[in-house]
Amino acid sequence: MEVKTSLLDNMIGVGDMVLLEPLSEESFIENLKKRFDHNEIYTYIGSVVISMNPYKSLSIYSAEKVEEYRNRNFYELSPHIYALADEAYRSLRHQDKDQCILITGESGAGKTEASKFVMSYVAAVCGKGQEVNKVKEQLLQSNPVLEAFGNAKTVRNDNSSRFGKYMDIEFDFKGDPLGGVISNYLLEKSRVVKQPRGERNFHIFYQLLSGASDDMLKKLKLDRDFSKYNYLSLDSATVNGLDDAASFRTVRNAMQIVGFMEDEVQSILELIAAVLKLGNIEFKPESRVNGFDESRVKDKNDLKEMCELLGIEQSVLERAFSFRTVEAKMEKVSTTLNVAQAYYARDALAKNLYSRLFTWLVNRINESIKAQTKTRKKVMGVLDIYGFEIFEDNSFEQFIINYCNEKLQQIFIELTLREEQEEYIREGIEWTNIEYFNNAIICDLIENNKNGILAMLDEECLRPGTVTDETFLDKLNTVCAEHQHFESRLSKNSKFLTDHSLPHNCFRIQHYAGKVLYRVEGFVDKNNDLLYRDLSQAMYKANHNLIKLLFPEGNPAKVNLKRPPTAGFQFRASVGTLMKNLLTKNPNYIRCIKPNDKKAAHIFTDSLVCHQVRYLGLMENVRVRRAGYAFRQAYEPCLERYKMLCKQTWPHWKGPAREGVEVLLSDLQVPAEEFAYGRSKIFIRNPRTLFFLEEKRRQCLEDLAALIQKIYRGWKCRTHFLLLKKSQVVVAAWYRRFAQQKKYQKIRCSALVVQSFIRGWKARKLLRELKHKKRCEEAVTTISAYWHGTQARRELKRLKEEARRKHAIAVIWAYWLGLKVRREYRKFFRANAGKKIYDFTIQRIIQKYYLGLKKTMPSMSPIDKSWSTCPYGFLDGTHQELRRIFHLWRCKKYRSQFTEEKKATYEEKLAASELFKDKKALYPSSVSQPFKGDYVEITKNPKYQKLNSLVEDKVLLADVVSKINRANGKGTPRIFLLTKKCLVLADQKTGQVKASVPLPDLSSVFVSTQNDGFFALKLREGATSAAKGDYLLSSDRLIEIITKLYCTGAASAERNQIKIDISDEFLVQFKQDKVCVKFIQGTPKNSNSVSCKRKNNRLLEVSVPSP
Ligand SMILES: Nc1ncnc2c1ncn2[C@@H]1O[C@H](COP(=O)(O)OP(=O)(O)OP(=O)(O)O)[C@@H](O)[C@H]1O
Ligand SMILES: [Mg+2]
Repeated sequence: MEVKTSLLDNMIGVGDMVLLEPLSEESFIENLKKRFDHNEIYTYIGSVVISMNPYKSLSIYSAEKVEEYRNRNFYELSPHIYALADEAYRSLRHQDKDQCILITGESGAGKTEASKFVMSYVAAVCGKGQEVNKVKEQLLQSNPVLEAFGNAKTVRNDNSSRFGKYMDIEFDFKGDPLGGVISNYLLEKSRVVKQPRGERNFHIFYQLLSGASDDMLKKLKLDRDFSKYNYLSLDSATVNGLDDAASFRTVRNAMQIVGFMEDEVQSILELIAAVLKLGNIEFKPESRVNGFDESRVKDKNDLKEMCELLGIEQSVLERAFSFRTVEAKMEKVSTTLNVAQAYYARDALAKNLYSRLFTWLVNRINESIKAQTKTRKKVMGVLDIYGFEIFEDNSFEQFIINYCNEKLQQIFIELTLREEQEEYIREGIEWTNIEYFNNAIICDLIENNKNGILAMLDEECLRPGTVTDETFLDKLNTVCAEHQHFESRLSKNSKFLTDHSLPHNCFRIQHYAGKVLYRVEGFVDKNNDLLYRDLSQAMYKANHNLIKLLFPEGNPAKVNLKRPPTAGFQFRASVGTLMKNLLTKNPNYIRCIKPNDKKAAHIFTDSLVCHQVRYLGLMENVRVRRAGYAFRQAYEPCLERYKMLCKQTWPHWKGPAREGVEVLLSDLQVPAEEFAYGRSKIFIRNPRTLFFLEEKRRQCLEDLAALIQKIYRGWKCRTHFLLLKKSQVVVAAWYRRFAQQKKYQKIRCSALVVQSFIRGWKARKLLRELKHKKRCEEAVTTISAYWHGTQARRELKRLKEEARRKHAIAVIWAYWLGLKVRREYRKFFRANAGKKIYDFTIQRIIQKYYLGLKKTMPSMSPIDKSWSTCPYGFLDGTHQELRRIFHLWRCKKYRSQFTEEKKATYEEKLAASELFKDKKALYPSSVSQPFKGDYVEITKNPKYQKLNSLVEDKVLLADVVSKINRANGKGTPRIFLLTKKCLVLADQKTGQVKASVPLPDLSSVFVSTQNDGFFALKLREGATSAAKGDYLLSSDRLIEIITKLYCTGAASAERNQIKIDISDEFLVQFKQDKVCVKFIQGTPKNSNSVSCKRKNNRLLEVSVPSP
């Protein structure tokens, strides 16, 4: 960060115009321009601050900047408005001096902004605390309220203050703000009814219409559309960068902070609405008998609404727009108003309403912000007043404004000189008279009580008879003709007779800031500022507190026939008071300059700035300041700044600062007339001398800088070298270590390679030797093996040879013996030896066969089919026969073990086999089942005791069977009993007899060939038991049942044999019907069980699972 210790450091141009060399208007403007181009908008003339409007926001108003300038000496830092504000605040606090800050400049130069910066700076640096903050906030928030009602957009400034404002901020002894008082000067009320082209009415009108809620507008009987109101100019109703709606919210908020009550705000807005309505009231002429026109309100709607808003009786106001009552002494004369007069009256009322409201607002704010304590206060006044105005067409307002500026210039010069003189006295320096232009003579021309222009105007306004602007000019021409600053074509001063730049209805004044031409038209009217009494009385009658307050003269009880003071008179008086006020305070000046007419940043119009520099009297200012000594500075900072220029004072001066400065200046041989020693400051007459010192200092600083640089660079190089050296040693050490390490690695690697080669070579050599040794051993083994082999084979050969020879010997011996025996026994053998040997051999073989058969005999079971195979072919027949005999014998043995009962059973089994074997598929499964006969234990089961007793004979068979229902083929369990004489069907559960069939009635039994248990008992036709028809039954033990039935039938001699029919389709008699029972092989779908279904009347189908 750049650190500044003096205003003289890093200067762009010169920061203080007093130091400008050479001093001329051109160099002055050039300096301003240079600084402006570098965003240096502030420049000093001694303690006066020149402020250029940058027309852009700069970052020089931050909180950090406030801190930077806080408690610093005025010239210590580069020029800034904060330096001035700080100086003023500190003088107020520490020296107990009341201060005033006078801000001047033309419209748009930045006065209002400057005043706000000053106020915000003071607010930032003064004390803090809840109460203090509230006061600060109220003081700051008074600005937006006043700006809304008192500012407007003009061609020069979008936020132009249309009133002069002087605000006294009051502080306690500690410097904490206590409150404030605001004074306002000459509000430009003509703006309410008419605005020049490209300008607007006061902001509040637009803010209200844009920002108020629909509800509020309805209450105020307003429409949001600007074009509905005659008093609002439309060509610039909206301003770039200005948000009226947002501003309205800000203003309402500010009003609340300042302390306005809700009903007060409402009343104010009603008044604003009333002014707008008033502007819409129009008049039409109505002829009267006396030949004059009388004005009448055209459309009464606006009038009505306005009266409703303000609580005024409509007829009263309507009359006031048509008639005017003039009271003279005790007489009252009523005259009619023509249309022009009515419009005049309407506009006068609007202007008065607004300007009085504005004054009331200021007073109301004062009431809120006034200090609460009565203790002595210190005051800082801030004056933001319109600057000098020179237009093409200058009227009464410009005259008044310029008069005010003339007065300000006067006190500016007076106070500057006075301050200068005071400082000289304070510092004990001899006072030399300073030549300057004193504008008292111009002030006198305007305000002189006897023959001043304002006095002339008042005189003319009060004079009876016809008074016009021309009569007023005539008067001026007579009275002021000789004045050297007054110019008029028709004055007695023949000098201007031929001056065509001076029209006849004008006069010209040579102000301190230049000549201004004023047109007299309107001077008288504006000075009179007339509001017809009828109107003020109508207003007073309003049922509206605020309106009543604003028009106290309308009170009939206080009729004052005296004319009210004229505008000029009032203004002169208030300016007088202001001047008196300012004279008692220590002044601080901010002179604002506008760089261009386009409200644009970065544009610097030389001619415009030159014009302002002239009329602000800035050159005058510099000259006054430089007339004595151009520059002054306290000894301490002076010595501190220049001590390096002299050996004695550098680097430290031990004695008092003043002596140090003396030694310094004499050492530098500065001529004695160029400076003077004050009590605490050194005074330098010419800027030249200061610049000489500055130049020397700059050179010296350069030398010092070079020296410091030299030493620093030397030190830096040395330390750098040492560092390099140290590093080099370290690097070398590391490098050597590294190189040795690498070398060692290499040697190690080589050693390893050599080592490995040698080892390899040795190993290979050893391997070769070992291999050789091994091969030798193998060869030995092989050779010895071959050798042993050869030996063994040779031995074997020899042994074989020997064995063969022995065998040959034995054979030859046997043959020889045989031959010998045969030769000996040949004669006996030939007769019967052959037959005997044969028989013997056969006998031996058969013997051997039987013995073998005995060993391989099969078991005694008749079903054992095993039999050994025959070992000799010629015994095959014998072998089979023996097998058959053995089987028959074995069966006989088996049968001989049978009891009678078992025999009967086997007979039954035999019968079953004869009946069913290979005829019915169910048969094979029955073979292994013993035929038990009684399966329900009929004799033991108590359930069947009764049934048992009913049956006379012995029960041959008792079993549960299914009786097939003839209707649906479903089965019902029944006990099936067979005796020698009959068969009985009984209920399984109860044992009750359902049917009893004597065996002789049974003609035949039908069964299928399939694997099912279905059987039909066919009864003999005509038999008594056949009444219900045949029986179709089913049982798993079908084979046993049928066999027993058959055997029982066969055993009985009385009747015919029961016929057993095996077929897959048979007819059964059910009562009258003959039904065919058909057996089919069931599909796999029909599960594994047998199912029986009645297909139709004639067919019962039994499906049997396929095997
Ligand atoms: N210091 C500044 N920094 C930025 N902008 C500025 C500064 N001073 C002034 N301005 C701009 O210039 C405009 C006009 O300034 P300001 O209203 O203070 O002028 P003024 O001298 O009070 O004019 P008038 O006499 O018409 O009231 C401001 O609205 C603002 O945009
Ligand atoms: Mg302003």
